[in-house]
Amino acid sequence: MSETAFDLVIIGAGPGGYVAAARASKLGMRVACVDKGELGGTCLNVGCIPSKALLESSELYYEVKGGLDKHGVVLGEVGLDLAAMMGRKEKIVQTMSGGVAGLFRAHKVEHVKGTGRLGGAGQVVVAGAEGERTLATKNILIATGSAPIELPGLAFDGVRIISSTEALALSEVPQRMVVIGAGAIGLEMGSVWNRLGAEVLVVEYLDHILPGMDKEVAGQLQRLLKRQGLEFKLEASAKGAQVKGDKVELQLVSGEQESVEECDCVLVAVGRRAYTERLGLEAAGVQTDERGRVQVDGDFQTNVSGIYAIGDVVAGPMLAHKAEEEGVAAVEKMAGRAGHVHYAAIPSVVYTHPELASVGLSEEQAQEEGVDYRVGKYQFRANARAHCMDAIDGLVKIISAAQTDRLLGMQILGPQASHLIAEGVMVMEFGGSAEDIARTVHAHPSLSEVIKEAAWTLQD
Ligand code: NAI
Repeated sequence: MSETAFDLVIIGAGPGGYVAAARASKLGMRVACVDKGELGGTCLNVGCIPSKALLESSELYYEVKGGLDKHGVVLGEVGLDLAAMMGRKEKIVQTMSGGVAGLFRAHKVEHVKGTGRLGGAGQVVVAGAEGERTLATKNILIATGSAPIELPGLAFDGVRIISSTEALALSEVPQRMVVIGAGAIGLEMGSVWNRLGAEVLVVEYLDHILPGMDKEVAGQLQRLLKRQGLEFKLEASAKGAQVKGDKVELQLVSGEQESVEECDCVLVAVGRRAYTERLGLEAAGVQTDERGRVQVDGDFQTNVSGIYAIGDVVAGPMLAHKAEEEGVAAVEKMAGRAGHVHYAAIPSVVYTHPELASVGLSEEQAQEEGVDYRVGKYQFRANARAHCMDAIDGLVKIISAAQTDRLLGMQILGPQASHLIAEGVMVMEFGGSAEDIARTVHAHPSLSEVIKEAAWTLQD
């Protein structure tokens, strides 16, 4: 049965989809949002949020286990209740997913549960528990996100060869875990299990961790992670694996050399791919690129009029906040408004200890783009608040235009970098300079003074 009712049907209720739904409703559209799973998508259910919950808990455990003697806090025996830690994570996920349901109710967005696919012109067909339902709509927004990439010879079995989804829900701490890929997922989940007691080896194809991040700062993070016990094997990749009982034999290749690593599980974290399965893109005539991503124009519209796409399923960084911004901009464009995403000022954070946050150009990118730039740096160990917090590792590195002092990039490796980077993002958004930062009053004592001092090193 077909219903003609909606101005906009969104497929996918992740941060891209649900934020777009709320904004579209506010702009006066009648909106439905289709999703086969729990509200909140990968980010909320098996990504950003549960991983941050476990990172927080595991960091506390690691810190307390190491002793708080220097604070004058005397502890008894410290133990681990993994089930309770997982339970807390689940509760956070449920609360936040319930929050999305509340958001939908408040904005009168209809949540249609089921798997959505493109039907004929202006139609989305939803296969749910009670059969199929066809939604007729003026516009369609594809926000189906992404899925983990599988490596040849290392097919996911969900137990011994796992993706980030299972790495968030192990029922016991593995003795030895090998992580393939030193990207955000590999380092975050590797950190969680290392802190909880596993030996963790991170295998990376390149000669450095975190490709795309400033090499100097990423190198410092690698040294700090090594100090915490993570092992690294760079310029290496996995060729295949055999599961033997409750162990995995993993074949690694590094140049001409081959070796075998025995471990309890292998986490494959080598990136994600656009998720478009059963969406009916081909039948609807929607074009994709060579990596299977939906192609869109500057208004987020595909080659088919009235079909739009945003977030991980289109090109660009696979980040929840990028999807959110695109979702808002796309529906504003549909409503005839001036939606806009400033791609040069999208922050990126790796939630290790310490955190690594960046926005704008890294030093390597400035060199590649032939930009005339200057670098200002300041260490957290020179900051009084960092000493009080016992968190003196790391630095702030600022890249500014040599002629104009305009802020081009900021890297922060240090405590609470995920929060501190907002200052760099804001200054870049307003086209400000390093001097603007240097001459802005920062509270004393606070970590933000490290940003100010880094900016001062660029002033004469
Ligand atoms: P990624 O693309 O960030 O990193 C993958 C790493 O694996 C790269 O360093 C790459 O060189 C390496 N690699 C690729 N193939 C390999 C092979 N065969 N052997 C060894 N190493 C190999 O991907 P990741 O960490 O899986 O994350 C997926 C996406 O999710 C990314 O776009 C990431 O930005 C996003 N994400 C962001 C987070 C955050 O912002 N905190 C957290 C988690 C994910």
